[in-house]
Amino acid sequence: MLSKSQARLFFWVGTIMFSGVFLWLTVDTIAKVPDQTHEKNMTAAVIRGKHIFDKNNCMGCHTIMGEGAYYAPELTKTYERRGEAWLKVFLPDPEAMYPNARRMVKYKFSEQDISDLIAFFKWVGEMDLNGFPADPPLKQSTTAPNTTANTAGTSASASSTLVAAPAVYGQLCSACHQIGGSGGSVGPALDTVGQKYEQAWFKDWLKDPQAIRPGTTMPKLPLSDSDIDALATYLAAQQ
Ligand code: HEC
Ligand code: HEC
Repeated sequence: MLSKSQARLFFWVGTIMFSGVFLWLTVDTIAKVPDQTHEKNMTAAVIRGKHIFDKNNCMGCHTIMGEGAYYAPELTKTYERRGEAWLKVFLPDPEAMYPNARRMVKYKFSEQDISDLIAFFKWVGEMDLNGFPADPPLKQSTTAPNTTANTAGTSASASSTLVAAPAVYGQLCSACHQIGGSGGSVGPALDTVGQKYEQAWFKDWLKDPQAIRPGTTMPKLPLSDSDIDALATYLAAQQ
């Protein structure tokens, strides 16, 4: 049994020691924040992007670092997941990206606003969050399959897959489509799509999906003629 004075001593020593540890951990954590957030990369554009995010109450539907509402996707890793080219197409007109299907608001953003938001998302995505968000699905990346690498080594077996994916495929298409098991699953996998359609069909489809299949949920994307040519060649080769 402790005597009264021993108990008092025990109480004070314990309280003071653990308060000290708590304070030290707090100071230590705060001191690490600038490094973890890469504060030096916080440019004026990042700050403007953050204000746009706050002013429009994007948190009303989205979360960043788990903070916010759970209606729409977590955005901490959206830059990594989608990439700049995709975000540039999506943000000015979200509904055009998901025709008939989705609920993201269309804002009247200027080009400057869009690039500020993208700078903000890039910065947020680069924070050291001790592993948050966990791997799939929130941090799933949808980069393009490297088809040339897959077939390197196998001799030219007349295999179609020797056509490399054009860069635009990885920037815009793989967010929704899979080839070789990598990519999103909003649209169908395109592994054997070349058996279904001819090159000319792909061109018409990419120019205006609605014209070919009214009511389709494939978006009309801002593609240049040379993008369309390269994509049609690539798709026709997916046998
Ligand atoms: C009314 C709810 C709502 C609000 C408010 C909203 N969003 Fe969204 N957002 C969505 C939904 C739903 C999606 C999923 C795609 C879709 O359905 O259009 C989405 C998708 C996104 C994506 C793509 C995420 C990904 O990785 O695929 C980004 C980026 C985004 N929103 C940014 C914003 C920004 C920036 C704002 C504020 C200016 C905002 N959102 C406000 C509902 C909302
Ligand atoms: C936002 C999601 C989304 C993006 C981005 C997208 N697609 Fe699609 N795609 C779809 C959906 C959904 C369908 C199915 C449409 C339907 O059945 O009406 C589709 C259908 C297709 C088809 C027809 C497949 C078939 O078997 O009939 C092709 C080919 C295609 N997409 C190619 C592309 C290419 C190339 C790109 C990039 C330039 C792209 N898609 C970008 C969602 C998307």
